[in-house]
Amino acid sequence: MVSLQGKSLLGLQGVPKEEIELILRVARKMKEVINSGDKKLSLLKGKSVCNIFWEPSTRTRGSFEMAAKYLGADVINFSPRGSSIQKGESFRDTLLTVMAMGVDAIVMRHKQEGSSLLAHQCVSPLIINAGDGAHEHPTQALLDLFTIQDVKGHIDGLKVVIVGDIDHGRVARSNIYGLKTMGADVHIVGPRTLLQPEIEAMGVTVHYDLDEAIKDADVINVLRIQRERQGIGFFPSAGEYNSLFGLNAKRLQKAKDDVLVLHPGPMNRGIEIDTDVCYGDHSSIQEQVKNGVSVRMAVLYLTIIGGVDVDTTR
Ligand code: CP
Repeated sequence: MVSLQGKSLLGLQGVPKEEIELILRVARKMKEVINSGDKKLSLLKGKSVCNIFWEPSTRTRGSFEMAAKYLGADVINFSPRGSSIQKGESFRDTLLTVMAMGVDAIVMRHKQEGSSLLAHQCVSPLIINAGDGAHEHPTQALLDLFTIQDVKGHIDGLKVVIVGDIDHGRVARSNIYGLKTMGADVHIVGPRTLLQPEIEAMGVTVHYDLDEAIKDADVINVLRIQRERQGIGFFPSAGEYNSLFGLNAKRLQKAKDDVLVLHPGPMNRGIEIDTDVCYGDHSSIQEQVKNGVSVRMAVLYLTIIGGVDVDTTR
């Protein structure tokens, strides 16, 4: 029997298909609750969740907070500004302090790869990785999988193209692990400076030409170009990036007629994706944000309380 109870979620590498399927199945029930309009459950009544974000976030932090509250948990939030991190309190001491308050789970984002694993080794509450440097962002990939399944009905056998900054992208890495586990045909495309050929070892097909990569694609997941990288040699200018790797309506015609367009956000409209595509008929970008709440409800519920299913009758 598959159970996630008591398990931290540090990444999707090595997570078995049955566990991903369980999260997606429970997330679907959570979405029904959200859609019902009466969103408050008491599944995590008496439990507490702490969000610690050493890096900025809108979607992930907001949806984890909403997810925990919808489940009836108590929630506290910390970021460096306004907390004792600003006074120089260390990573480990911050986590120990939060643990001493008696929280059941810590949702954390940090710029350092491996930080969530280190946290897992330092303290006893469950650790949910909300993004550790360029390493993994597992709940983003889970909500992407959920959105694909929602729109397409299945994930296995679909041609999924991930375009953008693959080397520095935690979303790309978690998506590759999750999509491969779920049986998708994964293609990766981006400039050579942002895409090392070694990534082929993850079982993906590598392209350096977007028009070639998106031929007959079922799904295109466009990643954010980190504008801070412009001017340090990864690509010459935002305009050049847009002309070679920007997703626009003309390029989209090369994909399948019913292609699904995703973007984890925040978007640089006019650089990696044009406005008519991100707000167009093929896009489920807003739905991804909505699904993020359901998926994070499922992750919090399954890791803190467990169970192989969920009774959402409050
Ligand atoms: N996709 C994502 O992680 O967005 P935020 O940085 O707003 O959380």
